[in-house]
Amino acid sequence: MPNPLPKKHDLLTLDDVRPEEMSHLFHRAGVLKGMQHRGEPHRTLEGRTLGMIFEKSSTRTRVSFEAGMFQLGGMALFLSSRELQLGRGEPIADSARVLSRYVDGLMVRTFAHQNVELMAQHAGIPVINGLSDSFHPCQVLADLFTFEEQRGVGSLRGKKVAWIGDGNNMANTWIQAARMAGFHLVIACPREYQPCDAVLDKTRRLIAESGANASVEVVRDPREAAAGAHLVTTDVWTSMGQEEERLRRQEAFKGYVVDGPLMALADKEALFMHCLPAHRGEEVSAEVIDGPQSVVWDEAENRLHVQKAILEWLMRGGSGW
Ligand code: CP
Ligand code: NVA
Repeated sequence: MPNPLPKKHDLLTLDDVRPEEMSHLFHRAGVLKGMQHRGEPHRTLEGRTLGMIFEKSSTRTRVSFEAGMFQLGGMALFLSSRELQLGRGEPIADSARVLSRYVDGLMVRTFAHQNVELMAQHAGIPVINGLSDSFHPCQVLADLFTFEEQRGVGSLRGKKVAWIGDGNNMANTWIQAARMAGFHLVIACPREYQPCDAVLDKTRRLIAESGANASVEVVRDPREAAAGAHLVTTDVWTSMGQEEERLRRQEAFKGYVVDGPLMALADKEALFMHCLPAHRGEEVSAEVIDGPQSVVWDEAENRLHVQKAILEWLMRGGSGW
């Protein structure tokens, strides 16, 4: 099927999303969520196919994209890189060109972010980053939507968000989100596990140029980040691909557990988020993740609804919004 977009648009990082596009996405995600819950059909991508290339494990990303495409009337193909010729050395560019002749969109979960960029550069169809070593845009869009769902449209604007722990792909994405959604992000991490300098520098430059009411700060003390925060969020200390560093990381992140005493420093209405999978007793205590401030199950569910809105946006060029 020919690509319907005059110029295809990709979602590789949150720098690909303008604030007004985010608002449209969240509005549409809310509509789709309502239709889904009421059992109303919403087959807006009938006849379309999404190819999903996975180089890493996944529960949420795989199942939410696959179920989402089905609910929209299309279908998704799970493509493990181990079984594709890609895994035997076929160049990414060639794979992208060929797959573009068969499917209408590609979701890619990979290691080096450059792999997703290369795929997007050579694919004639929209490419969605389903997580790279550097960014996880679909997850943070679902997280922002979840905050608005809990606290109202635009409620995160000007608020304080605390990121506690590793300066990883999720942290880099929250940095970009601060610019896009307009909030104050304070990241607490050990010195040797800082987020990407280039992402920090670019985001700070974009904030300064646009005059947005947003900021990004990196501190060492988790209590400084959590103090008065409206949202406290964290992630695993050892991401996929870093398994050999596990013991060293467990030692380095000892003081970065999100537990009851840390949450008590945050705003009394603060929410807790975690993209999952989580390790209770490592980055977060059971009392927090299973407690009343935690919205992790809504976050996980909202991956489905937000991604359906993303799929419509990219595969139909925003028509139908
Ligand atoms: N949060 C997230 O992306 O989960 P999966 O690794 O299970 O897809
Ligand atoms: N930072 C984690 C996120 C998992 C969804 C990882 O990359 O493994």
